[in-house]
Amino acid sequence: MSQALHGKTALVTGGSRGIGRAIAERLAADGATVAITYNASRAGAEEAVAAMGKAGGAAFALQADLLDAGSIPALFDELDRELAERTGGKALDILVNNAGNPGWAGLSDATPDAWDAIVAVHARAPFFMVQSALSRLSDGGRIINLSSGLSTRPQPAAAIYSAAKAAINTLTHALAMELGSRGITVNAVAPGWTRTDMNAAVRENADMVKGIEADTALGRFGEPSDIAAVAAFLASDDGRWVTGQVIEASGGYRL
Ligand SMILES: NC(=O)c1ccc[n+]([C@@H]2O[C@H](COP(=O)([O-])OP(=O)(O)OC[C@H]3O[C@@H](n4cnc5c(N)ncnc54)[C@H](OP(=O)(O)O)[C@@H]3O)[C@@H](O)[C@H]2O)c1
Repeated sequence: MSQALHGKTALVTGGSRGIGRAIAERLAADGATVAITYNASRAGAEEAVAAMGKAGGAAFALQADLLDAGSIPALFDELDRELAERTGGKALDILVNNAGNPGWAGLSDATPDAWDAIVAVHARAPFFMVQSALSRLSDGGRIINLSSGLSTRPQPAAAIYSAAKAAINTLTHALAMELGSRGITVNAVAPGWTRTDMNAAVRENADMVKGIEADTALGRFGEPSDIAAVAAFLASDDGRWVTGQVIEASGGYRL
């Protein structure tokens, strides 16, 4: 363990699986006390917390359905209680807005309910997470939002998702300007194709996988740990002069 984040606290939404779990594990390995949220995957969250503990880290899990932004203040009240028990205070140093629901809905098949669900989790929740986090966030803290390569190269089959991720890029920029006076950096990490449940169906199609690898300069699918490494940099002291940026981590997709 590097201990670069020793004494820091972090909250990672959607830490029960995929990229969020990898980010949480990396921040814990770097010494932070990490809270993860889960929605449906309680067992996944418990497994992630146990894995972080086994590796020598400190972690705990909280339930939150981020479809409902109204539930966010209660999530932070619970975070306060859990952090107070573990650290003696409620200061939060690192907020990672990672949670995401499936986004495959385009012009031919989308419904207004699908629009609302995608935008609620991918764009609305991160904004209100920051609003609730503000009174707990340390000066010099970090906010890291998960965007997507699709935010700038939209896919028709995921049109609403692409638009929600473009919104995250814009919010990242706006929040960086607003919070800079407190030394808080706000950045987005935009993964390309990364091996998680979110694109399991795509990975079952050998021709699509071949096409994606051929379109990727580094010639392979991304791993959650590839994205976690970028988040860890932004969270660390080395990332202190980077703010308001959308950093694509895609292995060079369609350069
Ligand atoms: N994988 C990729 O190729 C890729 C590419 C670009 C961007 N991204 C972005 O990276 C982030 C993580 O994606 P991933 O691939 O790791 O996804 P994933 O493996 O499908 O995991 C999604 C996570 O979000 C949580 N979640 C889903 N719906 C939720 C809700 N209504 N309320 C609260 N939490 C909810 C899940 O919790 P439960 O399991 O508990 O339900 C899970 O922890 C997302 O923002 C995604 O858009 C992914």
